[in-house]
Amino acid sequence: MEELLFDKGEIATMTVNRPKALNALNPAVVQEMAKVLRDVRHDRSIRVLIVTGAGDRAFIAGADIAAMAQMSVVDGMEFCRLGHRVAATFEDLPIPVIAAVNGFALGGGTEVALACDLIVASEKARFGQPEINLGLIPGFGGTQRLPHRIGQARARELIMTGDMIDAKTAYEWGLANKVVAPEQLMAEARALAEKLASKSGFALRQAKAALRASFTMTESEGLLYEQSAFGLTFGSADKAEGTQAFVEKRAPKWLHR
Ligand code: CAA
Repeated sequence: MEELLFDKGEIATMTVNRPKALNALNPAVVQEMAKVLRDVRHDRSIRVLIVTGAGDRAFIAGADIAAMAQMSVVDGMEFCRLGHRVAATFEDLPIPVIAAVNGFALGGGTEVALACDLIVASEKARFGQPEINLGLIPGFGGTQRLPHRIGQARARELIMTGDMIDAKTAYEWGLANKVVAPEQLMAEARALAEKLASKSGFALRQAKAALRASFTMTESEGLLYEQSAFGLTFGSADKAEGTQAFVEKRAPKWLHR
């Protein structure tokens, strides 16, 4: 059975498919994710990507602990580098990415979700960075992205105690965008994806890149980046269409998908 499923379409879905191991990420699955993401990046027919986990228990219960138990220092660093590359690729994709978190999102699972643009969580979702309980630290970007998303106090609490939080807390802490009944999860994620797919792809791309700059640049560099990206949108057919449609009191017909 394939351990990573990919359902291509205008709204594409990537599903980690190791339900017996609660969708833990071994190096082979992370390599496969990197490969699929390379194709997604260049496929102009895909407008939104949804990432989820197979089964009803887990999104991704972290990196595969049995695999990590066998790794040397060099293997560990390589695995970390691979995870970083995948997380950075999610962030650099020109399209929005939604994490549909159906259960445990622990360690690398929370870290994959953090690299997505939006998180829709089932009421059954649990988030956490339990690496400390394994004598490890987060290795797929959690030490950097988690404090950026939920603030230093809460990130330090999660990373240092290894405690899990439930979906409601994740929502209150600004980690999850939405919490829904488990049976509604994929429908809600798809509805959100359809809403995003109805926007100007060019404007969404500029917005995503500028938001990313808030993470990778200083505030003054990021503001300069925003000036350029905002200016760039003025040369697009979608800016002409969007502003004209408003003036004419009609729905816009976007040209850049
Ligand atoms: N790696 C490998 N296997 C895992 C796993 C993981 N991260 N998480 C769960 N599994 C496996 C279990 O070993 C078990 O397999 P068997 O049936 O073959 O024994 C199966 O999934 C079901 O798990 P449990 O029996 O433990 O289920 P549970 O309901 O009792 O507990 C759980 C669920 C609390 C999520 C528990 O499985 C757990 O604590 N998992 C580990 C979570 C974790 O520590 N994640 C962080 C990993 S480190 C990391 O991610 C580093 C990084 O930043 C990149």
